This record gives sequence, C-alpha cells and structure tokens, in this order.
Amino acid sequence: MRAITIPEPGGPEALVWDEVPDPVPGEGEVLVEVVASAVNRADLLQRQGFYDPPPGASPYPGLECSGRIAAVGPGVAGWTAGDEVCALLSGGGYAEKVVVAAGQLLPVPEGVAIDRAAALPEVACTVWSNVFMIAHLRPGETLLVHGGASGIGTMAIQLAKAVGAKVAVTAGSKEKLDFCAGLGADILVNYREQDFVEEIRAATDGAGADVILDNMGAKYLDRNVRALAVNGRLAIIGMQGGVKGELNIGALLGKRAAVTAASLRARPAGEKAEIVAAVREHVWPLIAAGHVRPVVDREIPMREAAAAHRVLEESGHIGKVLLTLP
Ligand SMILES: NC(=O)c1ccc[n+]([C@@H]2O[C@H](COP(=O)([O-])OP(=O)(O)OC[C@H]3O[C@@H](n4cnc5c(N)ncnc54)[C@H](OP(=O)(O)O)[C@@H]3O)[C@@H](O)[C@H]2O)c1
Repeated sequence: MRAITIPEPGGPEALVWDEVPDPVPGEGEVLVEVVASAVNRADLLQRQGFYDPPPGASPYPGLECSGRIAAVGPGVAGWTAGDEVCALLSGGGYAEKVVVAAGQLLPVPEGVAIDRAAALPEVACTVWSNVFMIAHLRPGETLLVHGGASGIGTMAIQLAKAVGAKVAVTAGSKEKLDFCAGLGADILVNYREQDFVEEIRAATDGAGADVILDNMGAKYLDRNVRALAVNGRLAIIGMQGGVKGELNIGALLGKRAAVTAASLRARPAGEKAEIVAAVREHVWPLIAAGHVRPVVDREIPMREAAAAHRVLEESGHIGKVLLTLP
C-alpha cells in the first residue's frame, strides 16, 4: 500500500508518499481500507519530530479516518468486511489501509457522507471526553471555547449548544467569529482586539465561565483561571501557548475551581474504547438528528498532505481539513 511517511522530521516537505508494507490485523483488530483521513495539529508536531507515536502505534501520521472494513482479525464481534466506518487511531491514518482496535470503530453516522465522516472521531472524542466526561458541562452553564473556529472548536460549540449550554468563543478574525455564531456561539471574542476575561465577565453578569476548553496552555493559564466562575473547570487540551505557566492557587482555591489536562492519544486502548462508546451513545444520535455536523474546510488528495499541513500552519481553515484517496 501507499502511506505518507516521515523519513526525516522537518517542514511540510518532510511528508513523503511512499510504498510501505500492508498492515495485518491482530487479535481484536480490523483492517480498514481508508477513504479519507483528517489533519490534526498533533500531526504537525509529529512531522517536526516533537511528538513520537505511542509504543505499538503506526509510525505514519493520522489520528482518524473513514473507510470500509477490508478484513476482521480474530476475536472481533459486531463488525464485518464491507462495513462503512470511521475510527479513532493512534496513528497511521495517512495511508491506504490502517489497522485499528475494534473498540475504536464507529459506524459512519446516518446522513453523513463516508469521506466527511473522517472529520469526526478525533474532535468528537476529544470534546466529549474533556468537556462532558471530565468537566461535566451541564445545561444552562457557560462554556468558553478557545479557538472556536478550529476543528475542535467547531465540534465543541455544536455539542455544547445541543445540550443546552451557553457558548463563548475566542478566534482571531471576524470571519471566524461569524462562522462560530452560525454554529450557535452566543458570545464572540476577537482575541487579537479584546480581553476575553473582561468579555466573558461582562456577558455573564460577572460570573465567568463554568467550563473552559483551552488549546493555549501556559499563555492563557492565568487569564483562564480569572475567567472561571465559582466551581469552574478549566480543561486544557493543547499547549499552543507553551507548557510551563504559573498557577495562582489562591485564585483557584477561592473559586473552588479545578484545572485538568488530558491527551487522548496517550490513553490506553480500554479508555479509548470507553470514550468511543460514549460518543456513539451521546454524540452519534445528535448527528443523525441534524443537531451536529462535521465542519469540513476543504478536501485535499492524501498524496498532497504537505499542502494540507501548510493550511493548518497558516490557520487558513475553519473546521477540519480532510485528506482523501481516489
Ligand atoms: N489533548 C487532546 O487529546 C487533543 C486532541 C485534539 C486536539 N487537541 C488540541 O486542540 C487544539 C485544536 O486542535 P485542532 O486540530 O482543532 O487545531 P486547528 O484546527 O489547527 O486549530 C488551532 C486553533 O488555534 C487558534 N488559536 C491560535 N492562537 C490563538 C489564541 N491566542 N487564542 C485563541 N485561539 C488561538 C486558531 O484560531 P485563529 O485561526 O482564529 O487564530 C485555530 O483555530 C490544538 O491545540 C490541539 O493540539 C488536543
């Protein structure tokens, strides 16, 4: 088969469309013939040599895909060859075929084209696990999503609105904020021109955000704690603004607030399967009912993955960038 390999870490040109051996499904695994994959920010770090795949994972990039089951390994129940699926991967999505644990498979949701289903697994699992399973966002609460127009952000807005929460977003342009408003975001903050702490307080009668989904890490830590409401929960999922910050424990203590940080990729297979099952139970019906949809910026042929990485690096996209196979 062919796959995108990274012979030497570097810029987008480090991605090479290469001939590689076919993967073989083991116990509890299936082989998926890939229709599409999607680009995640973590893939950019892997390409640069800063984010090695976890032990046992495919060396090729790609944390999600959609496609058709080509073969089923021993001990797999409930899936058969030919099923149309999408999958949460630990790697290897930028390829014509990929092996995945059966617990990380989802059916292509009702009403979604098979290629566009590749936009769903990573964002649905990340948002559901962090915002709902860890931070327990409840109806009527306020969620602040940083980077509202990102792949993650566009899913977070839709899911939070679908459960009856109020949603605030930050983004770097009017065009992106307008798009977030179209998805249902109630409070729009241009982080280049406005202070999100002031804006969120003003929009919540001084209360602040009950849950914050944060992609910035260190750079926003202090401001995020200030923007939290009493009993607020800050869920950090990204480190685009650095890894080491200073935490004002006094401010946290006074608010009885919590800070969590979690990476999906590093979780053991059993935990990933639990998250995937929860997403199938809670998110898939919202998609089938038309309350939540994949947000796809553009589709680029997989062999041109370098061009797709450039789009993400320039933040020239809204939602997800897909990599497709003919
Ligand atoms: N922990 C996990 O398991 C996990 C899983 C998936 C993703 N993530 C993380 O989630 C984040 C989003 O991922 P993605 O794949 O959806 O990436 P993406 O589509 O490339 O989005 C990145 C976003 O960051 C925003 N951004 C840049 N500077 C900002 C600032 N100062 N304030 C607020 N937003 C800013 C950009 O918004 P503008 O274009 O408007 O500037 C852009 O929308 C990344 O940090 C990624 O590493 C974590």
